[in-house]
Amino acid sequence: MPFDRLARGEVGRPYADPVSDHPTLLLICGLPGAGKTTLARELAARRGAVRLSPDEWLSDLELSLFDEPLRDRLEKRLIGLTEELLRHGQSVILEFGFWSRTERETLRDRAHTLGARAELWVLELPQDELWERIERRNNSPEWHAEPITREHLKLWWTLFERPTDQERRLFDEADGIMTL
Ligand SMILES: Nc1ncnc2c1ncn2[C@@H]1O[C@H](COP(=O)(O)OP(=O)(O)OP(=O)(O)O)[C@@H](O)[C@H]1O
Ligand SMILES: [Mg+2]
Repeated sequence: MPFDRLARGEVGRPYADPVSDHPTLLLICGLPGAGKTTLARELAARRGAVRLSPDEWLSDLELSLFDEPLRDRLEKRLIGLTEELLRHGQSVILEFGFWSRTERETLRDRAHTLGARAELWVLELPQDELWERIERRNNSPEWHAEPITREHLKLWWTLFERPTDQERRLFDEADGIMTL
């Protein structure tokens, strides 16, 4: 019975992030292969946060990872869900990659408007290292049908607007403990 579980405190427990007493929006920023999913999983466990990954939703629904208009619609929907969760006091991790400064700014403003904190986690690696990781992962079953090519990576490298120190300071401070 769900109500019994609620009474025993097994569900509906109050928000409990060991780092902050405010719900937090955590943006994970970086190119493919940078380690976003790996970091987001660690943070989800550490911060009691809900992790939303468009790649996983597309892949689980057997939709194309390269259908950009569809990805845009999905991301909009996930942002709507994020706002609902933050309003209910739940921290959220968005694993969208966030290559555009405007996109990061919009989400930071939305979180702050809702009274939530906003943290930016940036993963930067040399292009060759990214490529090594991507090549390894291309061989896994979910990526086999639509592997990322070196040409994709070269193009994306030029499109990524790396966060400056000035931009990073506009976000709330992360806990600084996390090392991967
Ligand atoms: N800190 C790390 N050190 C070494 N390897 C790592 C590290 N983090 C992740 N990896 C490896 O790099 C590969 C890519 O990691 P991950 O899937 O987390 O990246 P991603 O940024 O989510 O990629 P994508 O944008 O394509 O989803 C994986 O094989 C993962 O095991
Ligand atoms: Mg990922």
